[in-house]
Amino acid sequence: VAKENGNALFSHEALSITVLRERAYNYRWATVDKGVIPLTAADPDFPVAEEILNAMREYLQPGVLSYGPPSGLPEFKEAIAHWYFTTKNVEYKTQHILPVDSAAFALFLAAKTFLKKGDKAIVLEPVDFLFRRAIEYAGATVITSSLNKKTGEINILDIEAQMDQKVKAIFICNPNNPLGKTLSLKDLKSIGALAIKHNLHIISDEIWADICYDNSFISIASLNEEIKNRTIVISGLSKNFALAGLRVGYICTGNQRVYDKLFETSHFASTAFGVSTLSQIAATAALTKGGLWLSAFLKHLESMRDYSLLRLNAMKDFEMNAPNSTYLLFPKLKNTKRNSEEFCDYLLKEAGVALIPGGEKWFEKSSEGHIRICYSTSHTILKEAFDRMEHTLGRL
Ligand SMILES: Cc1ncc(COP(=O)(O)O)c(C=O)c1O
Repeated sequence: VAKENGNALFSHEALSITVLRERAYNYRWATVDKGVIPLTAADPDFPVAEEILNAMREYLQPGVLSYGPPSGLPEFKEAIAHWYFTTKNVEYKTQHILPVDSAAFALFLAAKTFLKKGDKAIVLEPVDFLFRRAIEYAGATVITSSLNKKTGEINILDIEAQMDQKVKAIFICNPNNPLGKTLSLKDLKSIGALAIKHNLHIISDEIWADICYDNSFISIASLNEEIKNRTIVISGLSKNFALAGLRVGYICTGNQRVYDKLFETSHFASTAFGVSTLSQIAATAALTKGGLWLSAFLKHLESMRDYSLLRLNAMKDFEMNAPNSTYLLFPKLKNTKRNSEEFCDYLLKEAGVALIPGGEKWFEKSSEGHIRICYSTSHTILKEAFDRMEHTLGRL
């Protein structure tokens, strides 16, 4: 069992394709034909940590499932504050932390709180489509600036050139989905300086921060108090602890004024919206008791990243970058006349492997010509997927 990576929790035997076929939606096992391997949405195939399941069982035992506090469970807020202080070096007061029902919702809430019709917000691309959706939901316009797809570096001159009075916020995705790159200290400082100069809100989506292989992740909120004050950090437990189905995440704010604005916009006090108590119980257990599970998961992922890079490099159809974070690869297509979508359609049909294409719909314009591969599965499944791809592409 342990032969794959030294940890039975992340062996092929630990996961159940039968259960995944019933439960894993969002372009994954439950949505593809039998026989297709989905390396699509960024959601692990492995069961969650036992500590999380135990906490949920224990909470359910007395059978009371009343309304919870509208601003979130105090123990969850404390766990988040401790997590951000000990692992990200940012100190947050619990009263400035708002549990929400997913990082996706947090992006929408942030956009709705800070942007109005006619405003503009900067997004660094390629990046997940959620950023654009959130900003447009608030009635604002997206301005994009391209990251260097090999290094993940920003182009501060290009960003500056697009600034005007209407720009009210900059959204960053650090580490970046789909590039699998962290933002450097130099770039974070430039973004911080830009935000101060132009009085921008910084919305930093750090949901991938725990999946970093070289300790290079830096939260922009850790730079200084002035930057922390104008930043809201968004995070969640879908990527690090595989809790996507529980829809739980959180927002950390630098001060009471910003917290109050977000809370008011959230309508959580009205009971119309909000995060389930059971999800917060699970998330609290993850942050307080899931550390060992997460370290083992990271170790497995790092070895799957190296294996995936080896296999993809051998295929000669892809130009790789060197991702240091996330469990995503974003190779550029070589030697093909197919665009990203056609290439993915071809692999789905001929190889039975589902991937996410680059292109405007998913990761903004400059992502065309790339494909995204999610490798948070077992070595056995990855090997089968890459064998199929190699075989099919060899016949191109
Ligand atoms: C950068 C980023 N933000 C947010 C999300 C959504 O997270 P959640 O499941 O908490 O809504 C994802 C999921 O892929 C993501 O990659």
